[in-house]
Amino acid sequence: MLMKILLYSFLIHLAWLQLPLAASDKTNTTRPPATITRGAKITKPGCQSKCGNLTVPYPFGIGLGSGCSIDPMFDINCDTSYNPPKAFSMGNLEVIDISDSQMRVKNSVVSRCYNQHGDLTFAAVNRIYLDPYFSFSDVNKVFSIGCGDLSMMTGTRGRNFTMGCVSACTKDDIIDGDCNGIGCCQTSIPKGLQGFNISVFRILDFSSLWPFNPCGYAFLGELDSLTFHSSDLSDPTFVNRTAYNVPIVLDWVIGNQNCTELLKSNGSVCHQNSRCIDSDTDIGGYRCLCVDGYEGNPYLEPGCTDIKNARIVHVIHKAYVLILLVVINVRAQMDSLAMV
Ligand SMILES: *[C@@H]1O[C@H](CO)[C@@H](O)[C@H](O)[C@H]1NC(C)=O
Ligand SMILES: *[C@@H]1O[C@H](CO)[C@@H](O)[C@H](O)[C@H]1NC(C)=O
Ligand SMILES: *[C@@H]1O[C@H](CO)[C@@H](O)[C@H](O)[C@H]1NC(C)=O
Ligand SMILES: *[C@@H]1O[C@H](CO)[C@@H](O)[C@H](O)[C@H]1NC(C)=O
Ligand SMILES: *[C@@H]1O[C@H](CO)[C@@H](O)[C@H](O)[C@H]1NC(C)=O
Ligand SMILES: *[C@@H]1O[C@H](CO)[C@@H](O)[C@H](O)[C@H]1NC(C)=O
Ligand SMILES: *[C@@H]1O[C@H](CO)[C@@H](O)[C@H](O)[C@H]1NC(C)=O
Repeated sequence: MLMKILLYSFLIHLAWLQLPLAASDKTNTTRPPATITRGAKITKPGCQSKCGNLTVPYPFGIGLGSGCSIDPMFDINCDTSYNPPKAFSMGNLEVIDISDSQMRVKNSVVSRCYNQHGDLTFAAVNRIYLDPYFSFSDVNKVFSIGCGDLSMMTGTRGRNFTMGCVSACTKDDIIDGDCNGIGCCQTSIPKGLQGFNISVFRILDFSSLWPFNPCGYAFLGELDSLTFHSSDLSDPTFVNRTAYNVPIVLDWVIGNQNCTELLKSNGSVCHQNSRCIDSDTDIGGYRCLCVDGYEGNPYLEPGCTDIKNARIVHVIHKAYVLILLVVINVRAQMDSLAMV
């Protein structure tokens, strides 16, 4: 009897422990892994690695002109007058996240609003021009949100081009979660885009859209982060909410030389267990990437190290916790049986 109780309780604990552990290992993210922020060293010696809770890995570096980055264009200005501090790149772009090949920045949503008489009450334009080593990732889309609105974007990619997206609807047609033209329209941008301006125009009768949709919105942002709801059309917090919830994704590369040119002029710049990768846009530049099964910062000594070593330590730790819990439980069971 005692053995049976102990066995059951052991199995229950095992199941209870296994489930969350297994789930946490399999968590899926649509974002590429950020191996660059793992490993022994993530900054140059003597450099700060965090601005608020943002980790800033080399080749980026905290402090304008601090020499902590690979190039002044990768300097991150950590403004401690905010609490928590905010990180800025290229002047006024607020940095939310830095990964192996991308940087996410706070968005800025353009809106154009009308009152019940159809008078324009608010209008804004947004323009962002990036430094040469950055471009807008093609995971971003141009969005138009509203029931009679046209978003117009003029982009710069060598030469200027203009594109647009029209969203139209009546109050009842909207399908929550869908961005296929009904209340929400999305369109792709070419890879390598380095600058744009965007604005929104109401092209349908605005008085009929009041009050359920007083404003039209336009912005460039990460597709996977946007979930459109019909309630967004009348939500005064939409602009502020979307600024952080739907970031703009930038691709970054170093310099304008490709890997072949770099090897000739500077020799190998990517450290152990990493390889050099050419930019996949036509703006040139390179990045270093850990080879499969390795992680760390490939731009700094000692380069990338074997993930397996880290995994083994992790598994041993889990096993230890498991045994500890079982022992505690067995003791508790014995104590309670002894009391009966
Ligand atoms: C995880 O991602 C992979 C590839 O992106 C996909 O095939 C798989 O279905 C995803 N699994 C879950 C549980 O979402
Ligand atoms: C960083 O801080 C902000 C504001 O305090 C918070 O909203 C966000 O979730 C934090 N991010 C992480 C990764 O902890
Ligand atoms: C593209 O537009 C920008 C911003 O208006 C302007 O400064 C630039 O000269 C234009 N470039 C070309 C090639 O027309
Ligand atoms: C956007 O840039 C284009 C090209 O430079 C210009 O013609 C247009 O007026 C600009 N639009 C806005 C709203 O600033
Ligand atoms: C949006 O944010 C700005 C600046 O932080 C603030 O002034 C404004 O009141 C906010 N608007 C809403 C509707 O929350
Ligand atoms: C690297 O750049 C040089 C000079 O622009 C070019 O000739 C070469 O084809 C490029 N190599 C690759 C792999 O793109
Ligand atoms: C290549 O070497 C030159 C001269 O030593 C240096 O100024 C430059 O920063 C190096 N480039 C890279 C990408 O390391």
